[in-house]
Amino acid sequence: MRTFFMILSRSKVMQWLVAHFGPARLIARRFTSGESLDDALAVVRGLEKKGMRATVNFLGEKVESREDAGKVAEAYMRILQRIHDEGLQATVSVKPTHIGLGLGEKTFHRNLEKILDLAGELGTIVEVDMEDSATTDTTLESIRQLLEKGGPLRVALQANLFRTADDLKAIIERGGSVRLVKGAYDEPARVAWKSMKDVDASYARLIELSFAPKGRESGFYPAFATHDHLLIEKVLSEAASRQFPSDGYEFQMLLGVRRDWQEKLVSQGASIRIYVPFGTHWYPYFMRRLAERPANAALLARALLSR
Ligand code: FDA
Repeated sequence: MRTFFMILSRSKVMQWLVAHFGPARLIARRFTSGESLDDALAVVRGLEKKGMRATVNFLGEKVESREDAGKVAEAYMRILQRIHDEGLQATVSVKPTHIGLGLGEKTFHRNLEKILDLAGELGTIVEVDMEDSATTDTTLESIRQLLEKGGPLRVALQANLFRTADDLKAIIERGGSVRLVKGAYDEPARVAWKSMKDVDASYARLIELSFAPKGRESGFYPAFATHDHLLIEKVLSEAASRQFPSDGYEFQMLLGVRRDWQEKLVSQGASIRIYVPFGTHWYPYFMRRLAERPANAALLARALLSR
């Protein structure tokens, strides 16, 4: 199922179909805040009123020129400035290939550094999404260098990859911050667990590692990005048994997914941040959301067939 949607995410025909049929567009809208930054900030304000924070993502990936990558970096700087000027608590979430990773390590590194410099001045942090495993090494090498300079960064690590425990340990030692996710990309069996059961078991081990005493000593800050209630409960029980304060870690969830859990966690006093994407390039993001949940795909199929 996941492979099927990953193939569709690269299909121009499917993109055209989905973008041109109103009902399908409406389903896609459930996962995004709108097409403009104003739309995204309105959602961020609404979330803050409910006791949640946000991370704003400008939708897009795999830019094709250095000029475009530079423009995306500048767009992120404008987003950071608006967030700051409006007194909001949000971070930003950046996809490496959106700011030029596919065009070379230097382009990515330079653009990320520019965004980070401004985030540092404004007193917020930049979150770096993790894309497919072909990008992991380059992404983490840049992160390592920027963390050494004290860059205000959080990076996503994927529980489905065999390498992640080692990557997590390295960041814990540096006292950085990690967003732990299951992994949204279809990966080859030589680098990743393929069954959900194995991915969940890996995620559970990474939760334990995140709360280990070493992290507390180094100032490591974990963010658990999952809607899986068993894993959420595991985070809560690990934190309680190790007497970890609720402001020493956070949960993260996607806009439009499991609002019941989002509200429940707020009511229990947990810190929670919502991923708020905006922009016109929503198609690949939407396809990954379909791959995660067959019921979403059934909704889309019904919408397309009803035309
Ligand atoms: P799981 O898929 O088992 O879902 C648990 C339950 O949540 C489901 O039973 C369902 O009720 C609900 N649910 C989950 N997904 C849903 C959906 N799409 N629609 C409706 N209901 C849904 N991945 C990545 O590779 N790199 C990254 O940088 C990020 N970043 C990121 C940030 C944040 C804030 C989140 C929450 C997730 C990511 N991800 C990600 C995506 C992540 O890897 C993963 O694909 C999804 O979170 C789905 O996995 P769950 O942990 O939610 O569990």
